[in-house]
Amino acid sequence: MVHGMVVEDGGATLKEYDEAFLGDGGVVVDVVYSDLNYKDALAVTGRPGVVRTTPLIAGIDLVGTVAETDDPRWSPGDWIVLNGAGLSETKHGGYTTRARIDAKLAVAIPDGLSPESVAALGTAGYTAALSVLRIVSEGVSPGDGPVLVTGATGGVGSIATMLLATAGFEVAASTGRVDRFGDYLSSLGATQIVAREELEGRGKPLQKAQYAGVVDSVGGEVLANAIARTLPNGTVTACGLAGSAALPATVMPFILRGVTLAGIDSVWASLEDRADAWRLLSKGIDPQQLDLMTSRIPLEGVIAAGEQLLTGGLHGRTLVEIS
Ligand SMILES: NC(=O)c1ccc[n+]([C@@H]2O[C@H](COP(=O)([O-])OP(=O)(O)OC[C@H]3O[C@@H](n4cnc5c(N)ncnc54)[C@H](OP(=O)(O)O)[C@@H]3O)[C@@H](O)[C@H]2O)c1
Repeated sequence: MVHGMVVEDGGATLKEYDEAFLGDGGVVVDVVYSDLNYKDALAVTGRPGVVRTTPLIAGIDLVGTVAETDDPRWSPGDWIVLNGAGLSETKHGGYTTRARIDAKLAVAIPDGLSPESVAALGTAGYTAALSVLRIVSEGVSPGDGPVLVTGATGGVGSIATMLLATAGFEVAASTGRVDRFGDYLSSLGATQIVAREELEGRGKPLQKAQYAGVVDSVGGEVLANAIARTLPNGTVTACGLAGSAALPATVMPFILRGVTLAGIDSVWASLEDRADAWRLLSKGIDPQQLDLMTSRIPLEGVIAAGEQLLTGGLHGRTLVEIS
């Protein structure tokens, strides 16, 4: 029997099921690790917005070894990672000892990172990498000025801070928890710590321009004020709504400062973009530092950890040990 965390109409529970429940994907994976992201926290605590069909195995990421494959890109025994691509939304996810997936958007574990580190980075880390790659591809470079990271103690924010600092950017890290985590953010490479309150409230359409780029995972007024503080021709990436899905902004920064607002979608990113993001992570992440910011939990612990994540009780990344 296989077991995993299944979301049904009444909530999420740990269940046993036979292989027929896994569906008809062509690649069978013995899952070793998954991780906990904001979306996982919503799914396992019964909040709406992620799981679109039930019953469904939760977990937007999986890392494991290939057991059987009808896809010539893979051979039995290969380590494989799949992030997003409908997992835990419309397809069974990674919180299971065995999965059957469509592996077209899966990538191999990149050189320089262990399977465990890849899972610890997970969707949050890979999304941080997509955001940094986008800022750089829009022409922002370290000499242009600091990059603001919002929600900096979270998964996306922590990894973005590390990647930007390694790439030579000055990082201004914004957090609602300066007292508890200011030192943590400095240890990741942030050179300025910005209290979240400084970015809250309705601000003017154009404010003092100070950031060459922004990695935002918070949305709402924080994102609007970040856009209003972006230097001419700077780029703001938006990937999240940890604060709000609203965007109470004006067009002034776009039409008077040439600011670019770039959306980041990790779920359906192309295979090429995924490979680029994982390559950047393999170069830009210090595995020992990643280890220090990673908590480990068993599959049984994901519901409690999900509640903690949504109520501000976690920081950094949470690795889920499946088998
Ligand atoms: N577009 C995509 O493909 C994609 C991929 C990954 C994640 N996301 C989204 O990105 C967001 C962050 O994901 P994550 O996994 O990094 O979550 P996380 O680990 O929970 O981090 C979110 C951070 O946001 C800040 N925050 C929390 N509540 C807030 C509030 N009410 N107002 C302002 N800031 C708040 C906190 O940082 P501080 O305490 O430091 O302020 C928190 O640590 C989520 O909305 C997630 O769905 C999107």
